Amino acid sequence: MFLSSWFVLALGTLVGALPKRECVHTVKESVNPPRGWAKVQPAPADHVIELRIGLPQPNFATLEKHLYEVSDPYHERYGAHLSKEEVDALVAPHPDSIDLVTEWLMSHGISEDSMGLSPAQDWVVIKVPVGLAEKMLNTEYHVWSHEASNSSLVRTTTYSLPDYLHEHIDLIQPTTLFSTWRGMKSTIHSSQPAKPDTMSSAPPIKVPSASGGEVDASCNTTITVSCLKQLYNAVGFTPAGGKNGNQIAVTGYLEQFANIADLELFYADQVPAAVNTSFEVISVNGGENNQTLSEAGDEANLDTQFAFGITFPTPATFFTTAGSPPFIPDIGTPTDTNEPYLQWLEFILDQRDPPQTISTSYGDDEQTVPPSFATRVCNLFAQLGARGVSLTFSSGDGGVGDGDPDPATQECFTNDGRNATRFIAGFPASCPFVTAVGGTTFVPEVAISFSGGGFSDLFPRPSYQEKAVTAFLDELAPGTYEGLFNPNGRAFPDVSAQSNNFRIFLEGEPVLIGGTSASSPTFAGFVSLLNDARLSKGLPPLGFLNPLIYAIGAEEPSAFNDITVGNNPGCGTPGFNSSVGWDAVTGFGTPNFGKLKEVVSVKNPLGLVQS
Ligand SMILES: *[C@@H]1O[C@H](CO)[C@@H](O)[C@H](O)[C@H]1NC(C)=O
Ligand SMILES: *[C@@H]1O[C@H](CO)[C@@H](O)[C@H](O)[C@H]1NC(C)=O
Ligand SMILES: *[C@@H]1O[C@H](CO)[C@@H](O)[C@H](O)[C@H]1NC(C)=O
Ligand SMILES: *[C@@H]1O[C@H](CO)[C@@H](O)[C@H](O)[C@H]1NC(C)=O
Ligand SMILES: *[C@@H]1O[C@H](CO)[C@@H](O)[C@H](O)[C@H]1NC(C)=O
Ligand SMILES: *[C@@H]1O[C@H](CO)[C@@H](O)[C@H](O)[C@H]1NC(C)=O
Repeated sequence: MFLSSWFVLALGTLVGALPKRECVHTVKESVNPPRGWAKVQPAPADHVIELRIGLPQPNFATLEKHLYEVSDPYHERYGAHLSKEEVDALVAPHPDSIDLVTEWLMSHGISEDSMGLSPAQDWVVIKVPVGLAEKMLNTEYHVWSHEASNSSLVRTTTYSLPDYLHEHIDLIQPTTLFSTWRGMKSTIHSSQPAKPDTMSSAPPIKVPSASGGEVDASCNTTITVSCLKQLYNAVGFTPAGGKNGNQIAVTGYLEQFANIADLELFYADQVPAAVNTSFEVISVNGGENNQTLSEAGDEANLDTQFAFGITFPTPATFFTTAGSPPFIPDIGTPTDTNEPYLQWLEFILDQRDPPQTISTSYGDDEQTVPPSFATRVCNLFAQLGARGVSLTFSSGDGGVGDGDPDPATQECFTNDGRNATRFIAGFPASCPFVTAVGGTTFVPEVAISFSGGGFSDLFPRPSYQEKAVTAFLDELAPGTYEGLFNPNGRAFPDVSAQSNNFRIFLEGEPVLIGGTSASSPTFAGFVSLLNDARLSKGLPPLGFLNPLIYAIGAEEPSAFNDITVGNNPGCGTPGFNSSVGWDAVTGFGTPNFGKLKEVVSVKNPLGLVQS
């Protein structure tokens, strides 16, 4: 909605009348707390919280149009990414929103110089005691606790705003956001696997799809960097090592950090040329980087070792973002921080040259994220895409069910008060502006049963996947899983990669670990190699991948290793089946790097295919 000038004038005349309108509050948002959260006690009135006020972005539709044009290989603007300034301008709020919100805050005694404003001016940040927040939002905050994750938060289930502010504020957090982001590493874990027997006499396994390639027999039980390069047809490709500006990054949350000593052991084991090299650690908002060996995170170690092992010698960054520290009621400093994605996004969007490929293996059930928040975060991912950044996310480890990899203990019930049985999509995988990566296993590859897949209940199906997803739905028997999923929703995953028996180093020892946590950094690794090939030719990076992925899936399907065996059970059902072409278990399949490189090594990727 674009505010026309007469409306602006009308608002200007209303400003003087503000104080009288203050008393008319209506509810802005209400949620049911997700399962597992219990109200403990009223929040102490003097506990300080940091409120982030998201102002509407009236020109977001224009940004989205740019995003799709520069990401669509059939469009003449393909690759013409936007600058930071261009994106900031397109997400800026209407000036009236800033004025009215500022005035409202001042009327509550908050001085203008204590209000923080994001670079694009689309967020206002203030620190206030709970007592004042309760007055401003006409609500009551409580301390809530979550037994399973042993965490406590100060939250409310509903908040209100003066009527006249509803159209000038999209959302305020922390209020209704109860999410507990988790790493997408499944629990399968064995402590001391034997070294993969690459010298064994077992003959290599022929892989039909990777242009006649062969894979070491050991790769069927233990995945290493060289297994992945063999499987995905990237043997012999060496990236430029940063001379072309290419960079890759992995994000870490939940106080996890990646251990450098473990990385060196991993490199000695699997990427000898990389020994004595490392990555840059960037701490966002006080994120931990405690190199004490016994405190390394398995998730962080997995993600960095494989993403950076695949792409060596590409310059690599690990972002460690602080989460919510334990709630301590009796201290006056703001301990109850916001959601870590937001803080990381604010940080990365403020960088002039963010890494071109970024992998994240953390997420939550879509239904636990308030729609206003999920939409806003998803739109922030779009901003990165428009600037030429490719984002990969794990699709989840619960098949069609919730994040619980054990189908027997999944809770597939809606959180909307109806408690209906329903498949549970994961977020951010369900955001149409990111690339969701599902899981495979074994050689030849089949779908892994925990591969998160399905349909968003929140985001409608984007046009880039209309053809592929309709074809998949048309193949389902009539009435299949009726009422259990939203056939008009954004479908995921988009692609997949190996997700089982990854040999990493943790606390000095080799361990096997799996999950779509492994798939995302793996796929991102090959995307980064593609970016490397493009940048070395003076071409722009790939940016937002999905329109290209679905175009390649339609025009040049052999650039993916189509996975046609397996399904992703959950919620007491066998889930969806892997099938020819796109499916809701493995997307289009795993990357055939050699073929993809051919496709993307020209300015107009599918021009090559059609000629
Ligand atoms: C739960 O968290 C509290 C406070 O952070 C900590 O003292 C306690 O040891 C934790 N309990 C478990 C079982 O992790
Ligand atoms: C790889 O392992 C799987 C599962 O054990 C098995 O079904 C498959 O035949 C193996 N592949 C080869 C080439 O032996
Ligand atoms: C790595 O660094 C150590 C200590 O400086 C050195 O002894 C070793 O030779 C180096 N290894 C490689 C492969 O460069
Ligand atoms: C890392 O954590 C351990 C245990 O909590 C602590 O003893 C040590 O001082 C920390 N090290 C750093 C560098 O923060
Ligand atoms: C929802 O329904 C399931 C199955 O009937 C039941 O086990 C569960 O306790 C219910 N949960 C709530 C919150 O009512
Ligand atoms: C999956 O395939 C099996 C075997 O062909 C079939 O019985 C089942 O109906 C399929 N499931 C779905 C959801 O299509």
